[in-house]
Amino acid sequence: MRGKTVVITGATSGIGLVAAAQLAAMGARLVLVARDKTRGEAALTRLRSLNPDVAHSIHYADLSRLAEMKRVAAEIAAAEPRIDVLINNAGALFATRHVTEDGLELTFALNHMSYFVLTQGLHGRMIASAPARIVNTSSDAHKGKQIDFNDLQSANNYKGFQVYGRSKLCNILYTNELARNLAGTGVTANCLHPGFVDTRFGDESGGLLSLGVRIAKTFAISQEKGAATIVYLDSSDEVAQATGGYYYKCKKATPTKQARDDDAAKRLWQESERLAGIKS
Ligand SMILES: NC(=O)c1ccc[n+]([C@@H]2O[C@H](COP(=O)([O-])OP(=O)(O)OC[C@H]3O[C@@H](n4cnc5c(N)ncnc54)[C@H](OP(=O)(O)O)[C@@H]3O)[C@@H](O)[C@H]2O)c1
Repeated sequence: MRGKTVVITGATSGIGLVAAAQLAAMGARLVLVARDKTRGEAALTRLRSLNPDVAHSIHYADLSRLAEMKRVAAEIAAAEPRIDVLINNAGALFATRHVTEDGLELTFALNHMSYFVLTQGLHGRMIASAPARIVNTSSDAHKGKQIDFNDLQSANNYKGFQVYGRSKLCNILYTNELARNLAGTGVTANCLHPGFVDTRFGDESGGLLSLGVRIAKTFAISQEKGAATIVYLDSSDEVAQATGGYYYKCKKATPTKQARDDDAAKRLWQESERLAGIKS
């Protein structure tokens, strides 16, 4: 990874932080996108200690707000002459429904729209830097879920884990459509399930959901194991050409039928463009 620039979201904690640290130790230069100054500076200090010869950097943005997603993408595109890897990884689960200033349901905004908007803002740089890779953190929580295009903002009958699972289904559908759109450019797009990992995930969800996740974490795997598939997709020669795949434990896996629905993927892309107010 020496000489490579890696942009990553959600690297102030959990599997994103471990993946960033491992990539820095492999020689990569990291560009972090974070919302919290204290955790951001702590992550940067850790990366600098692992690879002091490289000028890692950080940009601050709340990735649940469209204006912030667009601003940070424009800032990074202006600052970085080349981007070799983009890792969309920031995400969360919310027990109760919140609506952002853009009128979007918070889980959908953070877990799906931030992947879409950041990638749309940076893919031009990545095509110019090809070969390049986009890696999206999804989840097996997509299983048993389906997208309701009549209620993308989950206004009806909000259930935290259902809505979270749908956002992770969006990650797979989006990755598939992205891979199709990027075919022939030298930029690949893949997504992954990290496993059930002992991170801060769920700690701030609220209510019984936080308690449930905390209890379930007794059976969770380590952050190192959870980060392994992210690092594999970013760096392994084995997947240098692979695109449009869903991976678990560094192997290709098969997501559900709903996640392989090409019409739903196209429709989600169109809806995302409309909601973000961008045209690709
Ligand atoms: N843990 C699991 O079992 C599991 C399983 C499947 C998939 N995943 C996925 O893995 C990814 C990483 O989660 P994790 O388990 O490592 O959890 P985590 O420790 O809670 O990390 C989440 C990261 O997302 C960032 N983030 C949250 N809201 C944000 C916002 N509004 N703007 C910018 N950044 C924001 C957090 O920043 P702060 O440090 O500021 O909070 C943190 O860096 C998520 O996409 C999650 O859905 C996790």
